[in-house]
Amino acid sequence: MTDIRSDFPIFESHPDLVYLDSASTAQKPAAVIDAVAEYLERGYANIHRGSYELSELSESLYKESKIAVARLIGAESHYEIAYSNNATGAFNLLAGSMARSGWLKTGDRVLLSIVEHHANVVPWMMLRESLGIEVEFVGLNADYELDMADFVAKLTPNTKVVSFTWCSNVTGVGVNFPEVNDAIGKYWQAEWGKPPYRIMDASQLVPHGPVDVVANGLDFAVFTGHKMWADPGIGILWGKKELLKSMEPCIGGGGAINFVHTDGYEVSGLPYRFEPGTPNLTGAVSLLTAVEYFESVGGYPEVAETERELVEYALEEFAERSETVTLVGPTVAVLPSGAIRAGVFSFTVEGKHVTDVADAFAAEDVCVRAGHHCAEPFHIRQEISGTVRMSISMYTTQDDLEKFFEVLDDIVRKPR
Ligand SMILES: Cc1ncc(COP(=O)(O)O)c(C=O)c1O
Repeated sequence: MTDIRSDFPIFESHPDLVYLDSASTAQKPAAVIDAVAEYLERGYANIHRGSYELSELSESLYKESKIAVARLIGAESHYEIAYSNNATGAFNLLAGSMARSGWLKTGDRVLLSIVEHHANVVPWMMLRESLGIEVEFVGLNADYELDMADFVAKLTPNTKVVSFTWCSNVTGVGVNFPEVNDAIGKYWQAEWGKPPYRIMDASQLVPHGPVDVVANGLDFAVFTGHKMWADPGIGILWGKKELLKSMEPCIGGGGAINFVHTDGYEVSGLPYRFEPGTPNLTGAVSLLTAVEYFESVGGYPEVAETERELVEYALEEFAERSETVTLVGPTVAVLPSGAIRAGVFSFTVEGKHVTDVADAFAAEDVCVRAGHHCAEPFHIRQEISGTVRMSISMYTTQDDLEKFFEVLDDIVRKPR
């Protein structure tokens, strides 16, 4: 990959910064920053039925942004893309709308993996409280992938939804959807009715590898703009067109309706029925530019190659320190299943509190994060209170990782 570091102004304004917190949020390329500024300076107006030129320009950028996102994830049409405020918002929108549509009822089961982010846990738990659905967690195997025997055991006739991450923000791997599809194909019995909806949390996958919603047999996918170099405050819900068309939105208001009379209303068709109110217009412009920038530097094939080298280097370095530093995630770049490990490394350091470790990194201008990373059920299952997480993006360099391991060695050497 060509050197893209200089495309990210943050590294110019902070020359000593070692930013290894991209799983939390990614830095922004100049292209995105400039496009948003240009839009606000020269092209800004509200969308939806403005017949003047600025409004039409805004509307067409909004649409282009969805076309770019659809292209990135292999969706059939931009009509299948709804914007929300982040992945968390998109999950709440999806879970609430499924409930409102009667697709989830008392006694139905939602299957999650134990490593899911809270964004893909709490909205379902809320439905457990309000509707009486079951929320069941599937464990992981020794490679931190889904334990397929546990999955099959928990795939009961009342299972209406399986919602998994392909790339965990803690372990760097997740659920292999083709395997899940195969298992559903093999074990789901016709008399149980319609097989469960398949939902992917692609928040951590999108910055590193292709989602391909069609090839993976998904019904819905959710991800977030700020981890893929766009602005914070925009999230994406993709759904199969025929499902989105028949799903009743759980939120409503202006811009998302065909009519409102004193005795009722009718929600609009796609793509706006899930987007009441003025959308995050600058977020959409930033998403459009982020996708175009990513494609211009080579897209997934280039990023995968660069990141693979960094991941292999990091794993070798972690292996050398395995007596004192424990990785919570795979120790190989490619798993026996063929799954590729992303550059998200959570770890503990013997005898040190995770917060102290993160503070010691911060003192050296190395940005990492400590805690349960919004995946508390997983940490509880692992019987650890937290981990330190180091994570990369397409702008990360070997120098960043060298500095990280230098500081890590100092931390390990320091007396308690
Ligand atoms: C796997 C995963 N899912 C969902 C989210 C939630 O994203 P957001 O905070 O943008 O809603 C995150 C954020 O860390 C994540 O890592």
